[in-house]
Amino acid sequence: MEQEIKLFTREELKSRNTREDAILIIHNGVYDVTKFLEEHPGGEEVLLERAGQDGTDPFEDVSHSSDARSLMQQYKIGELVEADRTQNKTAFPQQWSNDTPRELGNAWSSWVVPLALALAATLLYRYLFA
Ligand code: HEM
Repeated sequence: MEQEIKLFTREELKSRNTREDAILIIHNGVYDVTKFLEEHPGGEEVLLERAGQDGTDPFEDVSHSSDARSLMQQYKIGELVEADRTQNKTAFPQQWSNDTPRELGNAWSSWVVPLALALAATLLYRYLFA
């Protein structure tokens, strides 16, 4: 017989962010990590920081092993309601916090400077030898 899957909204999970009651949302699944806090090889701090919220991005950033992924299943208590699900990770751009690249400006300046030099050289050449 198939087991009923318990459904949660993000709203009702928000407050479950303490050492006594900690859940994590990962890939639309809801995990009760209260008993796992002390066992997590990555430390309880990172889990508590994300508790009550979506931890998909930080979870994937660490590229957890397949062992970690199967271990995770024993803490699963349900899933998000259809309306609160994400279809893909990029639905959370605001959660790509401090580790997004900071040097976007460099891509621009890396070709602007040589281009300006080339232009200046061309003009100088024309001016001197025209
Ligand atoms: C139920 C959810 C989770 C489970 C079962 C889990 C399990 C594990 C396991 C087994 C490891 C050891 C390395 C490996 O096997 O990949 C690990 C490492 C780690 N995890 Fe998690 N994890 C979970 C969620 C998270 C989340 C949400 C974060 C970040 C906010 C996180 C951050 C880390 C970090 C930083 C390490 C240490 C990596 C290292 O020292 O090289 N984990 N986790």
